[in-house]
Parts: sequence; structure tokens; C-alpha cells
Amino acid sequence: MDSDNILVTGGCGFIGSNFIRRLLAGADFHGRIVNVDSLTYAGNPENLHGIAEAYPGRYLFEKADICDPSALQAIFAQYRIDTVCHFAAESHVDRSIKRPDSFIRTNIMGTFNLLEASRTAGGFRLFHHISTDEVYGSLGSEGYFTEETPYRPNSPYSASKASSDHLVRAYHETYGLPTTISNCSNNYGPYQFPEKLIPLIVLNALEEKPLPVYGDGRNVRDWLYVADHCEAIRTIMEKGRRGETYNIGGHAEMENIAIVEMICDLVDELAPAAGSRRRLITYVADRPGHDRRYAIDFSKLHGELGWSPAESFASGLRKTVRWYLENRAWSDRIRSGAYQSWIREQYGEQPDCSSEE
Ligand code: NAD
Ligand code: TYD
Repeated sequence: MDSDNILVTGGCGFIGSNFIRRLLAGADFHGRIVNVDSLTYAGNPENLHGIAEAYPGRYLFEKADICDPSALQAIFAQYRIDTVCHFAAESHVDRSIKRPDSFIRTNIMGTFNLLEASRTAGGFRLFHHISTDEVYGSLGSEGYFTEETPYRPNSPYSASKASSDHLVRAYHETYGLPTTISNCSNNYGPYQFPEKLIPLIVLNALEEKPLPVYGDGRNVRDWLYVADHCEAIRTIMEKGRRGETYNIGGHAEMENIAIVEMICDLVDELAPAAGSRRRLITYVADRPGHDRRYAIDFSKLHGELGWSPAESFASGLRKTVRWYLENRAWSDRIRSGAYQSWIREQYGEQPDCSSEE
């Protein structure tokens, strides 16, 4: 990749940490990564344990808030940032329904601050913005989201991401900032915070706790293994046309209840218990404004840049369940809250929104 100093925001989160590991391990990137993360409840430096030592001088961490323009200016100048790969966000729909304010602040104002820092940086090459298919709203039983689908976000989360997409687009049109945007479907895989459906169900099934399914369990998401998402981002950053948007998906549409049942069966197989985990499935009140179906048409990315997912849903889910089984200490530290005391000791206080429900 044609970049010397990449600023990755939100690199201590789920997708950002997978991306950093993968980029440093690959043969086609020789520069350095500066990871800027404010370490909210979702940011865990343990997700990148050993990386600074494995790649001396090529991985640097700065605990900073993207809502702090002067901190960003200083980091851009100090590291001569020429590329931004922007993951940092508040990312959980349920939290956005209870407390939308931090979503507006980080996802909109934080993106604006990064765009401003990039616009005024010398020798700037690319701003890649990571977004979601949720900006398009909800589908009925037919059809797919394309890059031409009008934006109709339904949650405070998706509305804040839609707003950030518009800002990125506007900075390209108005100031000629070299940008690319990707809108991806639901991810799953190692290091996902256990508030999201798949890790939550895996861990509850292991601990034989109730498995909450919202509404009738028939809502559909299109699932993509996180390594495939990271590879798509790398491909777009390297070869994508500047000013363009690319949809990323897995061709893996699944109803929530089918996923929960698959996880129960995998956990039964890999960590047998007295009875089937399916007995733990518990239907609970639906999420307000719950989008019914997401499905992605990624033919633009496939046709122009040649990307397609390597993992099927069955193979990716098996890998994921195994990872959570083999990394119980990681999830135990999160579920007990111990990771937050450790972060406070190492890095000082976490931001306001650190432990809010
Ligand atoms: P995550 O919640 O796991 O991680 C977010 C990271 O951003 C954390 O490390 C957090 O500490 C950091 N962060 C939050 N606010 C910050 C701030 N103000 N300043 C600096 N750092 C801050 O999220 P994720 O699931 O890895 O998602 C990453 C990106 O991908 C987000 O932009 C999200 O909208 C997008 N996305 C996610 C999915 C998915 O299924 N998870 C799908 C499509 C797109
Ligand atoms: P989630 O992982 O929160 O991702 P998103 O809302 O961004 O799609 O939820 C995925 C789907 O699973 C969504 O339809 C809501 C549903 N869901 C449950 O049924 N139970 C749960 O406990 C959670 C967290 C989600």
C-alpha cells in the first residue's frame, strides 16, 4: 500500500484491531501505523497484545479522543500522517437508543475533526472512512442495497454514521480531499465485544445463561467474517477510485434465530453439557425501530477491484466459536469488568461513556 504513516482510529476495537494485525502481517505495507483510540468501554489494548514488540517502530499507540482537534493536529504533525483509516465510532445500536449523545459527538463531530486535520495536512494521500449498510435503512423480503440506494437510517447509530458519510463525501466534492468510503454488513469474528449478537450468544451458551432473541427472531442480517472485511478495506484503499463508495457484504443472509441455533449446536459439539443449549433460547421484547432485513449487493467492489469473501458463514462461525472457547480469559476480563481497572492503571481514566449501559 502506497502509504508511509497511516493513522488508524479506533484500533483497539473489534474491526480496527483485526485490521492492524492483518496489515502489519501482510507483505504489501512497509510503513508505520499510529493507532489513535480514546479507550471507551469498547476499546481494549489487549486486542493488540504483543504487536508493538513484534513490529518495532512500526506500531505506535496514542490514547486520544477524535473529538479533540488540537490533539489530532499534534498527532498529524508529529507523525507526518499521510493516510487515515477511520474506524473509531460508537457502534452499538441498543446503546444508541438509550443514550444517543456520544454517538452524535464521536461519529459526527469526531469525523469532522479528522476531516479537518486531513484537509490541512501536507502531502495527504487518502482518507478511508469505514461505514455500515445500516445507513440504507431496512429492506422487505426482496432486493439488495446498492451504492445508489437512498439513505434512510432508522436508529441514532445509523443516522450518525449516515451523517459522517455525507461529511466525507462533501470534503471530496468541496475540497478535493482524496477519500474512499466503504459500507459493510454485519461483521463477526475474534475480539468482538460481547454485547453484539454472536459473541453474546456464544458466551451465554457456554455459561448456560438465557440466550436473548429480540422479537420473533426472523430479522435478517448479511454476515461477513472480519478478516474478509479487513481484506476488502485494504483492497479499496489500494485500488479504489477516489471519491467513490463501495458496498461490502458476505452473501450470507441469515435470520437471527437460525444463527442462535447454529451457535447452540456448535457449542454443544465443542463444549458438551448435560442438555442441548437450544433450551436456553429466550424470546424477549423487540428493539424499537428494529430494521427487518439487510442484504448487500457488492458487485461494484467485485467487478472493479476483484474482491470477494473467502469465508463461508458456516466456516467463519465455527472459527469464531472456537476462538471464544480458546480465549476465555479475554472474555472473562471483559465480562467481569477487570479489563477496565487494568486500562485505568495503564492509561489513566477512561472517557465519560466508558461503562454506561
Ligand atoms: P467497536 O465498538 O468494537 O470499536 C470502536 C473503537 O473506537 C473502540 O476501540 C473505541 O475505544 C474507539 N472510540 C470510540 N469513540 C472514540 C473517540 N471519540 N475517539 C477515539 N476512539 C474512539 O467497533 P467495531 O465493531 O470495531 O466497528 C468499527 C467501525 O466499523 C465503526 O465505524 C462501525 O460503524 C463500522 N462497522 C461495524 C460493523 C460491525 O458489524 N461491527 C459493520 C459495518 C461497519
Ligand atoms: P447486533 O449484533 O446488535 O448488530 P446490529 O444491530 O448492528 O445489526 O444485532 C444483530 C441482530 O441480532 C439484530 O437483528 C438484533 C439481534 N439481537 C438479538 O436478537 N439479541 C441480542 O441480544 C442482540 C444483541 C441482538
